[in-house]
Amino acid sequence: MEVYVSKNDLQDALKAARKAGKTVGLVPTMGALHDGHISLVRRCRAENDVVVVSVFVNPTQFNDPKDLERYPRTLEADTRLLAAAGCDMTFAPTVGEMYPEKDTRVFRFGPLEQVMEGVRRPGHFNGVAQIVSKLFDAVQPDRAYFGEKDFQQLAIIRNMVAQYNYPVEIVPCPIVREADGLAMSSRNTLLNASQRAAAPLIYHTLAAARALQNDMGIAELKDFVTAQINRSSELEVEYFEIVGAEDLQPVTTREEGKALQGCIAVQAGAIRLIDNIAF
Ligand code: PAF
Repeated sequence: MEVYVSKNDLQDALKAARKAGKTVGLVPTMGALHDGHISLVRRCRAENDVVVVSVFVNPTQFNDPKDLERYPRTLEADTRLLAAAGCDMTFAPTVGEMYPEKDTRVFRFGPLEQVMEGVRRPGHFNGVAQIVSKLFDAVQPDRAYFGEKDFQQLAIIRNMVAQYNYPVEIVPCPIVREADGLAMSSRNTLLNASQRAAAPLIYHTLAAARALQNDMGIAELKDFVTAQINRSSELEVEYFEIVGAEDLQPVTTREEGKALQGCIAVQAGAIRLIDNIAF
């Protein structure tokens, strides 16, 4: 596996692969890799001739400077894991390489960004779109792989691809969970022992709500989830929304045939955890 810091060097290597008629898959990450990321890399490996994984903590998507500062950076361990998972090219650029100038582009996603993370983290999805579009431009992948844990991010990226006609197939990959149910996340390593012990309650409560969905209305389900999780002194629900799985708009009643998703953000001290489940 080669590690590239320079976009030009990566592009030269990809040119050769393309000339040989090879397909290219991209897994964009911010590093601090765990089994969730590795499941994306394995899927990418199975479906493409060349696997590119980007490892870049993208400053423009952090609306909280403290969150950016404490975001784990573990490039050495990441490259070991990537080599073992069958990655061909790791792209680990510097901030200057990706942003030689301030990125002033503004992406608009309409109602998709006016809910949940979009409202609570102003500028976050614009930053995600900035970096993902730069990565698509640099790598020109046939397929790109994103985890369903970031459910709203996935919808935003699909929308960006549709708006800008990127010739890339977006491949959603299921959430990978720890044995106790906690959704895998690079931020989990920042939890202290009591926060970590409390955190599986998030998924267990989502699963309990799903089991109760035929006995409760939407408002009741939302109250149930919030109350159950807030019973833990370590956790505080920031929002729990039941939304259309396609349009991400909150619903107040069930509509026959409409797929719904329950999406949650929870504070565990200074650490913010998100998760979601199909209803
Ligand atoms: O999901 C992430 O890790 C990031 O938002 C992404 C897609 C790599 C863009 O920085």
